[in-house]
Amino acid sequence: MTRLPDFRLETYFSRWEFTARHHLTASDVQSMTLSELLALAEDKDRDTFENLSLGYTETFGDPALREVIAQTYEHADADDVLCFAGAEEALYVAMNVLLDAGDHAVVVTPNYQAAETVPLALCEVTGVALDPDRDWALDLDKVAAAIRPNTRVVSVNFPNNPTGKVIDAADFTALARLCDERGIHLFSDEVYRGLERDPARTLPQAADLSERALSLNVTSKSLGLPGLRIGWITCRDRELRSRLERAKHYTTICNSAPSEVLARIALKARETILARNGALIAANLPVFEAFFAEFADDFEWQAPDGGCVAYPRYHGADGVEDLCTRLVAEAGVLLLPASIYRSELTATPADRFRIGIGRRNPEEGLAAFAEWLRGRR
Ligand SMILES: Cc1ncc(COP(=O)(O)O)c(C=O)c1O
Repeated sequence: MTRLPDFRLETYFSRWEFTARHHLTASDVQSMTLSELLALAEDKDRDTFENLSLGYTETFGDPALREVIAQTYEHADADDVLCFAGAEEALYVAMNVLLDAGDHAVVVTPNYQAAETVPLALCEVTGVALDPDRDWALDLDKVAAAIRPNTRVVSVNFPNNPTGKVIDAADFTALARLCDERGIHLFSDEVYRGLERDPARTLPQAADLSERALSLNVTSKSLGLPGLRIGWITCRDRELRSRLERAKHYTTICNSAPSEVLARIALKARETILARNGALIAANLPVFEAFFAEFADDFEWQAPDGGCVAYPRYHGADGVEDLCTRLVAEAGVLLLPASIYRSELTATPADRFRIGIGRRNPEEGLAAFAEWLRGRR
């Protein structure tokens, strides 16, 4: 296995995710129960689930699931889809297939750590930072300037974790064109797609824009079903797809059969689930706004363009690392400090923290947070 550094976010979560009283930094929307999901199923899919044989499934993924996934794209069919155990396996396998030692990749920061540490373990990588002083703008000229003759991959993530940024569709299309012109694979992590505050800002999917682009998605985030561990890459480059499939023979071989059926049910009910989750976030936002309005001297709040995390600024002289450490230890409120999103590639802000806005009843965690803040005044 490629040597990789500790995954800071997952290491922090190993310590706190299931022990902190208030998980106020979740990046997934409120999950539903198995029976709630099955209640959304067509009779024949529920019957398939209940009578499922627990054998191996196809490495590419259950054909019926891939068919439903393909329907979420404009220009893809089931053959263009390859399923993985979550987005994480897909990202890991894709980078290992796309990048060799003499290659180069361009990665946007800040990011979900694997987006940069996996390529960094394989080849040279240049970071291009979203600009915190310009509403996290992505400067396409900087991306173009970072590209070298041996650049094989440009990796982006919108809606972005942790900033919530969604760039303009015209810029995203221009980025896909730039990559095409240079013979580069655009790797587009679209796991928060479908949770845009203004649906008009939903980006096209990279695999629809370019035959060589890879669109990464998963049931974990917008659909709130991370326990299924079903992710996928959609890509119309057949030769690349086949190489990805062969690499998966060394990781999970195939997906969990029950999860494939449940993911199919979830994707068929996608519009219903996304509407439910969008409504939950819309109802939560005023609760967060009220909290940050009360503590306006301490924090600078900005609602995300999309996704279910925000990345507010903390003004306190003690610093955000100390704030998060004390907050979880003394009040049981879990947030992710900026160091989790530190990059090896570019400077990243040191005064931010990630807060999750997609879980039910954030009032409880925010009340504990507020009480702790009042107590130290
Ligand atoms: C941007 C991004 N990509 C990929 C992943 C990995 O997703 P999964 O847990 O489904 O493997 C995450 C998880 O937080 C993420 O935020």
